[in-house]
Amino acid sequence: MSLRLGDIAPNFQALTSVGQIDFYDYLGDSWAVLFSHPADYTPVCTTELGRTASLKNEFQKRNVKVLALSVDPIESHRGWIKDINETQHVEVDFPIIADPDRKVSELYDMIHPNASATATVRSLFIIAPDKTVKLIITYPASTGRNFQEILRVIDSLQLTANYSVATPADWKEGEDVVVVPAIKTEDIPAKFPKGFREIKPYLRMTPQPNK
Ligand code: BEZ
Repeated sequence: MSLRLGDIAPNFQALTSVGQIDFYDYLGDSWAVLFSHPADYTPVCTTELGRTASLKNEFQKRNVKVLALSVDPIESHRGWIKDINETQHVEVDFPIIADPDRKVSELYDMIHPNASATATVRSLFIIAPDKTVKLIITYPASTGRNFQEILRVIDSLQLTANYSVATPADWKEGEDVVVVPAIKTEDIPAKFPKGFREIKPYLRMTPQPNK
């Protein structure tokens, strides 16, 4: 059965480019981004893993550990990492899971047979420290993902986990946020001392509370 938001991300053990790991042990109390790509030595995937490596500090700052996966074997990952480092001017040091027996791919429903019988699609999961699945996106093989968007969602998830707010369309760190409907308008001043704007009774904006 496929995973849904709010489900517990299943644990697994796997061989990766940084050695054998137990997923939960590897994560500890970090957030996780777990993402699959169709195959090693392919152009779009090369740029995706390069971009991920170049954003290392951004992920670290947010307490996020990143893991990539394809069904290719570990020897293939090791050779391809050299190419990624060379062509994308990075150092890939996050784990790339080798999943030739498709154990993890099937656990996370990363193979969509009507898209490809054998390769994983571009699935991506954001997983909170309590191991609940917070975001699932699936891109086709022909479209590389936007990793700034992944960081933006992590910022939103980490903010909204701690405050009674939600983030509006195209929100970016530092911009005004929405007060959740569960908060009565008369209770807003006590909870949000920076002030608020009532555009409609159901649409109340406030400055980002942790800035
Ligand atoms: C790529 O990563 O470039 C790619 C992989 C599978 C199909 C098409 C493109």
